Amino acid sequence: MNLKTLIEVRDVEKRFGGLVALRSVSMKVRQGSVIGLIGPNGAGKTTLLNIINGLYKPDSGTILFNGHDITGYPPHKIALLGIGRTFQVVKIFRGMTVFDNILVPALRFYKKREDAIKRVEWLCDFFEIQRIKDELASEISGGQQKLLELARAIVHDPQLLLLDEPFYGIHPELKTKIINYIKRLNEELGKTFLIVSHDMPSIRTICDGVLVMHAGEVIYEGTLEEARKSKGVLEAYLGV
Ligand SMILES: Nc1ncnc2c1ncn2[C@@H]1O[C@H](COP(=O)(O)OP(=O)(O)OP(=O)(O)O)[C@@H](O)[C@H]1O
Ligand SMILES: [Mg+2]
Repeated sequence: MNLKTLIEVRDVEKRFGGLVALRSVSMKVRQGSVIGLIGPNGAGKTTLLNIINGLYKPDSGTILFNGHDITGYPPHKIALLGIGRTFQVVKIFRGMTVFDNILVPALRFYKKREDAIKRVEWLCDFFEIQRIKDELASEISGGQQKLLELARAIVHDPQLLLLDEPFYGIHPELKTKIINYIKRLNEELGKTFLIVSHDMPSIRTICDGVLVMHAGEVIYEGTLEEARKSKGVLEAYLGV
């Protein structure tokens, strides 16, 4: 097993006015693992992803990627270092074709247009979206839009992928496919995942472990099975 820490968050605090969204959060994700980030609504899961990819700056604390301090770096710089990201509400160019949606970010990372096009073709093959590549992003299903966003997120071949609710509202058949793509990206290409989801069956299927958040804190780290037996986790979900 790979023991190298890929991403580490140390004592991060994030406030929005009087609201403390993250309260001294510390966590680590090892290279090559698939970790589920779970917890009730408003726990701070999305905020933690936003802190890691630089969308938000922490009020205090440190973020280390590959042992390198990236605290305060802007999102594009963090992306270049090797972190990809999808959003709870899909971010794609609705008026563009599926192919162009992936080509736009590809052109930012590849100097030669032909290399960018090659990369997009590879991604269309991998995610089996060749059939819909000329369709407008606004015309494909919500699940396919999530898949397209995933393709966009890995266009620059990042080591770490932060996925926010990748299974929400997706047709079961496509969900199974997306789970398999994530597994292949992890097992065949060594990608590391931090996946926010409320979908416990999917989390159980793909994750090596979970981090449970509640009220801005990481309250549990371990297996999903053990988390379900933890008194603190049960109380967080039941609102005791
Ligand atoms: N930009 C913001 N401005 C003000 N408050 C915010 C902002 N982003 C998040 N919050 C607040 O921070 C807390 C944590 O929100 P966050 O979105 O991280 O939760 P979450 O765990 O992702 O929840 P969900 O499962 O519902 O997506 C919430 O109280 C939320 O209202
Ligand atoms: Mg969220």
